[in-house]
Amino acid sequence: MNAPLSTVALSALALVALSGCSGEPSLTYQGNIKPLLDAKCVSCHVPGGPGYEKSGLRLDSYDAMMKGTRFGPVVVAGSSVSSTLYRLVSGQADPSIRMPHGQAALPEADVKLIADWIDQGAKY
Ligand code: HEC
Repeated sequence: MNAPLSTVALSALALVALSGCSGEPSLTYQGNIKPLLDAKCVSCHVPGGPGYEKSGLRLDSYDAMMKGTRFGPVVVAGSSVSSTLYRLVSGQADPSIRMPHGQAALPEADVKLIADWIDQGAKY
């Protein structure tokens, strides 16, 4: 292979890598995550609710969510496995603190949505 050709091949590869091989559109808080949190989490995670009163975590806005509990962040952008929020809804934490607290676990599709959103950078 001559030099110009391999350069073209490399640029094509780089483009594929940049656009993401999966081809999935990227997930956002506003479009994908907020409706889920509003339905399943916010009732307890606002001032006056047990989740907020015990942990300091509000889940009614992106900024509040990214701030986390009074001990620190629960979402680590780019790494669902390092994110407490994901670990709690996916059942990797102690069952006594599984979220949503004392209720049925989230459907697998919702858990995966949260994981994918965090792994894609937890975008607004
Ligand atoms: C029925 C009320 C309730 C609901 C619904 C609920 N939570 Fe919680 N949440 C709590 C309570 C109570 C705590 C404090 C747990 C503790 O320290 O014992 C908590 C704590 C947390 C924490 C912090 C854990 C830590 O590291 O201290 C996260 C993250 C969390 N909830 C996420 C969620 C998510 C995501 C949802 C929705 C899928 C949700 N919660 C729904 C009550 C709730």
